[in-house]
Amino acid sequence: MQDSVDGDPCKFVLWSRGSEERFTLQASSASIKMTWVETISTLLDAQNNFLSGAATWRDGKRKGPQSCIPSWLQGTLLRNGPGLFSIGDSEYNHWFDGMALIHSFTFTNGEVTYRSKFLKSETFKRNMKAERIVVTEFGTLVYPDPCSSIWSRSLTHLRNLVPDFTDNNLVNIVRYGRDYYASSEVNYINQIDPVTLETVGRTNYRDHISLNLATAHPHYDDEGNTYNMGTAIMGFGRPKYIIFKVPADTSDEEKKKKKPALRKVQLVGSIPVRSVLSPSYFHSFAMTQNYFVFVEQPFKLDIFKLATAYVRGVTLGSCLRYDKEDTCV
Ligand SMILES: [Fe+2]
Repeated sequence: MQDSVDGDPCKFVLWSRGSEERFTLQASSASIKMTWVETISTLLDAQNNFLSGAATWRDGKRKGPQSCIPSWLQGTLLRNGPGLFSIGDSEYNHWFDGMALIHSFTFTNGEVTYRSKFLKSETFKRNMKAERIVVTEFGTLVYPDPCSSIWSRSLTHLRNLVPDFTDNNLVNIVRYGRDYYASSEVNYINQIDPVTLETVGRTNYRDHISLNLATAHPHYDDEGNTYNMGTAIMGFGRPKYIIFKVPADTSDEEKKKKKPALRKVQLVGSIPVRSVLSPSYFHSFAMTQNYFVFVEQPFKLDIFKLATAYVRGVTLGSCLRYDKEDTCV
C-alpha cells in the first residue's frame, strides 16, 4: 500500500505482491482516507505477523471470559493450511502452494492454548536447505527442477507415469487409527504428533494400497474406523476410484505394537472411471449408514497433460479441465 498519490490527500494505492496492477482509491475526505489507510495497515500487519511469526514455534495461552470459552469445552482442535508463501527471493503463485502450517487450539478449563508449527515435509526441508523454492507445487512450477530425475523416472517407467508429487500436505488433518496425518490430495501424507505438532515422518499410500491420489477429507464411523476415497490412475490396471477403510482397532495389544494403522487398510470397493484418460477430480464424497455417495464430476484430470506437464513447462493445476460435453448424470 502507498498512502499518498498525485499529491491528493484523499487518494491512496493498493496492489498485490507480484502483480503489475495498481488500484487507486479515493475517499471523500482526507480524514476518511486516513481511517481507511490505518485500518488496512493494521490488517496487513496482522497478516504479516501471522506469516512471519509462524516460522517459529508458537505457544500462547489466553483465558477468555467464561461466556467466551465454556469450561465444559475440553480437547484439542487441529487445523492445517498454507503458512509461508515466499522462501528467499522465490514466491509461490497459488494459495494451494504455501508451506503447510499445523495449528492446534487446546481447550482446558476455560483456557485456550494455541500452538503452530511448520510441517517438516521433505519439500519443506529441501526448500529451507536451498533457501528458495525447489519443489514444484500445484500452481508454481520450478523449472529447471532439481527433482526432475523423479519426473524423468516417471516418464520412463509406465508404472509411475503419474509423477511423484510434493509432500507439502497443507489441506487437512486426517486420522487413521490413533495416527494423525497432515494430508493433501496426493500419494504422500506426513504423520504428526498431535500434542507437540512435530512431524513424525512421511508415508506413501502406495506402500499400503494401490492408488495415486487420495482425498484429504475422509469420514469416520461411530467405532472410529476411517473411510476414504482415492484414484488409481496408472500402474494398477484400468483407472478406477477406490474406496478404502482403515480399522480403528483400539485393542491394548494393538496399542503396544505402535505400528501404523494404515498397514491394516482394507479395500471396500472400486468404481470404474468412465473416461479412461480423464478421471474426475473430486475433493470429497459423502457417506451414509449404508452407502458411499460419489459424484463423478465433469471437472477432470487430463492424464496425458499430467504426464507431460514438466516437459511442457506447465503447472499441475493446468492439467485440470472442465469437460462441458460431459454434464449428464
Ligand atoms: Fe477441503
